Amino acid sequence: ARTVKLAVIPGDGIGPEVVAEGLKVLSAAGAPDGLTFAPSEYELGAKRWHATGETLPDSVEHELSEHDAIFLGAVGDPSVPSGILERGLLLRLRFNFSHYVNLRPVRLYPGVNTPLAGVDTADVDMLVVREGTEGPYAGMGGVLRKGTPAEIATQDSVNTRFGVERVVRYAFAKAAQRPRKKLTLVHKDNVLTFAGELWQRVVAEVGTEYPQVSVDYCHVDAATMFFVTQPGRFDVVVTDNLFGDIVTDLGAAIAGGIGLAASGNVNPEQDFPSMFEPVHGSAPDIAGQGKADPTATILSAGIMLDHLGYADAAERIERAVGDDLQARAKEGVDRSTARIGDDIAQRVAEQG
Ligand code: NAD
Ligand code: IPM
Ligand code: MN
Repeated sequence: ARTVKLAVIPGDGIGPEVVAEGLKVLSAAGAPDGLTFAPSEYELGAKRWHATGETLPDSVEHELSEHDAIFLGAVGDPSVPSGILERGLLLRLRFNFSHYVNLRPVRLYPGVNTPLAGVDTADVDMLVVREGTEGPYAGMGGVLRKGTPAEIATQDSVNTRFGVERVVRYAFAKAAQRPRKKLTLVHKDNVLTFAGELWQRVVAEVGTEYPQVSVDYCHVDAATMFFVTQPGRFDVVVTDNLFGDIVTDLGAAIAGGIGLAASGNVNPEQDFPSMFEPVHGSAPDIAGQGKADPTATILSAGIMLDHLGYADAAERIERAVGDDLQARAKEGVDRSTARIGDDIAQRVAEQG
């Protein structure tokens, strides 16, 4: 028996709604292994910012660091200037806790509707390994002569040898474990020649340690086309922070929608707690209506269990979600957020 110290950040918009369902499913999934969760909830996001001006106080960051994992809903709200919460909370956690691997599986589950014609589930099964701490997200650059006609804004892309190598290494190790053993670097080395060449060189070098993995390269613009026209080309995709952000929303769309897309912000060395959250945002357009699909958050809880070393419990979530999606496909009526969470939790419990 083990108790996981879990920091929970419900956040903004639909965040609290989907996190509640994720927690239901987590307890059900852990029970057969004697795994329980001690959640401590942190009120961070728009409400706190309006009340106190804080996004993430140092003391809270320190408390978070003492947990086994972080479970997050979403942050960002139309009432807060864009970027304050995204940078001050979400990206700060990803950076300071060294979440250099942003794991984003793209899988089409049986029965789920895809906008792609003529594909079946086996054609859409990839793992996007998005770099999580560098690239244009790093916050380098600035503004000169603001507000004048001569204004200049730069936003530099940071690519360190250390940062690129560690994520590429992780992606190769993942590819080596998968049946197809293929790794595709997605970049734009025909234009971003400095960074692109570094990524290419690192992939070539690390690749010599993984002769069983076949290596491919795709410019990011072409990759967006192939995600739609030939998704079966991709197995593991490794890419920089911004390209990874963009292609995983596309990945979500081809795999049945953003409500199903899960992610983990992982620090593989476990020097810091990793953070699990859906790919989607706070969806202010549907917040508070019980319309949000909690499946992405539930699958993210599964990625968390796997990361914590509970592969069986993770598998229970995978299976329950798969079964539930097939049932939903037959039903044809929309279920509420809580109903989906209850149904998946029940399917998980039935396997125990
Ligand atoms: P979004 O993902 O919040 O919403 C895009 C569209 O997808 C909306 O129509 C929304 O209703 C729909 N959608 C999202 N999640 C859904 C779900 N679970 N079920 C059903 N429909 C769902 O993206 P956006 O509109 O670009 O951003 C809104 C806010 O969220 C912004 O403040 C943004 O910065 C923030 N954001 C946060 C995260 C995060 O916390 N990781 C991720 C993306 C965006
Ligand atoms: C995501 C989001 C975030 C990102 C934003 C909210 C900072 O879009 O998790 O995909 O760009 O990484
Ligand atoms: Mn995104």
